[in-house]
Amino acid sequence: MPVPFLRMCTTRCKRLWTLAAMVITAFLVLYAVMSLGGNDERDDKQMGVVMTRSEGDLTHIKPQEILEKVKEVVETDVEGTQNMNIKEDEGELNDKLFENTDEGGNGAEEQDDERTQEIFGCDACGEFVEDVDIPFEMTTRRIIGEQTRIGGYGLGDEPQAIGMNQTFKILTPEEKELRRQERENKTLARAAEKELREALRIETRNNKEIARVEERKRLEALTNITHSQKKRKLRLENSCGKSVYLKYQNLLYKDTLRHLFVVDSQKLLFCYIPKVGCSNWKRILMVLAGKRKMIDGITSREAHSRNGLTHFGSLSKADQFYRLKNYRKVMFVREPFTRIISAYKNKYKDLNVFRLAPEYLKQVARRIMRKYRPGATPRDLITGENITWAEFTDYLVDPAERPQFDEHWKESYKLCSPCKIKYDFIGKLENIEKEANYVLQNSNFTLNLTYPSSTNSHPTNSASLNISNFFDSFSKEKVQALWDMYRIDYALFDYEKPSFVP
Ligand SMILES: *[C@@H]1O[C@H](CO)[C@@H](O)[C@H](O)[C@H]1NC(C)=O
Ligand SMILES: *[C@@H]1O[C@H](CO)[C@@H](O)[C@H](O)[C@H]1NC(C)=O
Ligand SMILES: *[C@@H]1O[C@H](CO)[C@@H](O)[C@H](O)[C@H]1NC(C)=O
Ligand SMILES: *[C@@H]1O[C@H](CO)[C@@H](O)[C@H](O)[C@H]1NC(C)=O
Ligand SMILES: *[C@@H]1O[C@H](CO)[C@@H](O)[C@H](O)[C@H]1NC(C)=O
Ligand SMILES: *[C@@H]1O[C@H](CO)[C@@H](O)[C@H](O)[C@H]1NC(C)=O
Ligand SMILES: *[C@@H]1O[C@H](CO)[C@@H](O)[C@H](O)[C@H]1NC(C)=O
Repeated sequence: MPVPFLRMCTTRCKRLWTLAAMVITAFLVLYAVMSLGGNDERDDKQMGVVMTRSEGDLTHIKPQEILEKVKEVVETDVEGTQNMNIKEDEGELNDKLFENTDEGGNGAEEQDDERTQEIFGCDACGEFVEDVDIPFEMTTRRIIGEQTRIGGYGLGDEPQAIGMNQTFKILTPEEKELRRQERENKTLARAAEKELREALRIETRNNKEIARVEERKRLEALTNITHSQKKRKLRLENSCGKSVYLKYQNLLYKDTLRHLFVVDSQKLLFCYIPKVGCSNWKRILMVLAGKRKMIDGITSREAHSRNGLTHFGSLSKADQFYRLKNYRKVMFVREPFTRIISAYKNKYKDLNVFRLAPEYLKQVARRIMRKYRPGATPRDLITGENITWAEFTDYLVDPAERPQFDEHWKESYKLCSPCKIKYDFIGKLENIEKEANYVLQNSNFTLNLTYPSSTNSHPTNSASLNISNFFDSFSKEKVQALWDMYRIDYALFDYEKPSFVP
């Protein structure tokens, strides 16, 4: 086998074989030198120094003694270094041969660290300070530390040269504590940073989720509003069509001329119905028309009697026609019975308001006293104060009174003529904030306004009011008569017939 192999071997191959043989020889020589190199003696010396160190602090040893030890060690080290010089070439070879034994080298280092640890405690492990200007006392320690390191280093306890400046820094207890604190602080800082990152991640995710939900809600609300608008308009069209009277009447109701406001700059016609958030709407129209800068601060008196808004009736027929055709037409309605309850409470029940009320409302009250309160005192008749809900509704159902009805309880359809004017938007007070803001944001207005939030307006709304209580004591005939009065409003504006109506 070897013979044919060698014969086959090329010149290059032979050279390789020779090199391998040399390397093996060199290794054997190295090993022999190491075993015979008087290591025992030196180890002892090193041990001596180490023992000295481990036995206690140097302060107990006389300075002279230390110097001697140091001298010994340094001399030995010089010897060792010389030995190392001889073997330097082989060292290179070693490196090549054991290229893959890095792990082993590290193992030795670890082992060495362990030993160092035994002697100096963990703070000395792997802590090196290069080129430090160390005072004499520290120098002594430095050399001792270094020797300890040599003791356990390299292949098979073979000493290796370590630069004199590469030394342990032996830490004082204060320094140890400081390092410990630094490590602890670093750990804490890392943990805090991680926590913060995680918190930020979660917050970002939550914010995105919130934004998504809000966007979905917004779109749903918009869809709800457009959907309900379609439903309301369809209902209105059907109901108008059912009444010949409403269908074929060609003119607008007279009240509409006064209730329809014109805002040319915004191409808007707005029909207001009293007790349907109309104070706020008048304020908004004033701002939209450029009469005022802000909604806030416009008093109710200003909004109602000095708003400076243009009435539809003040325009020529041609102008009216043009605007009906080209402008956006908006009106808001309210559950009819709730509306008259609100009107009564606001105009007659609250005495302070009544006493400041306009003369025409006082006159109505006096007439109610005269007609519907049998035992009225002269004072009742003069003041018209304290008319009751029953008396007020007796007046409402009196057919003779209907033609002169005040706008606060006049039927809504007579104020806004919804069967003649094709309104683009029919809002409801029951959902006024959402629907009013929908109008304000989706009508191409040049101003971005928001409907004043409900906390600023009257608290009387149908949700907080069980209106059946207001009709409990009435006769069936009276409830029926009231229903008959407002049933067209109920039908046109898609409100449900109250359960207490027969
Ligand atoms: C050790 O330190 C001295 C003085 O700081 C410097 O002169 C010398 O070059 C250093 N030796 C090594 C091997 O870095
Ligand atoms: C560690 O943190 C504490 C508290 O913040 C601080 O007082 C101390 O100085 C810090 N120590 C170090 C070494 O940074
Ligand atoms: C939309 O309408 C539905 C049913 O009428 C209702 O449940 C939902 O709460 C409404 N959504 C919004 C955002 O108003
Ligand atoms: C109306 O009622 C108030 C309080 O209940 C009372 O002070 C006032 O005198 C009454 N007015 C009349 C005309 O009776
Ligand atoms: C608003 O303006 C846009 C673009 O000019 C138009 O498409 C849209 O119909 C307008 N909306 C209303 C409610 O007038
Ligand atoms: C209008 O104002 C509301 C609230 O003040 C705001 O959410 C909205 O983004 C504004 N819209 C525009 C187009 O400026
Ligand atoms: C309203 O009040 C009447 C009588 O007091 C009661 O029967 C009815 O259940 C109430 N309705 C509501 C929605 O609270």
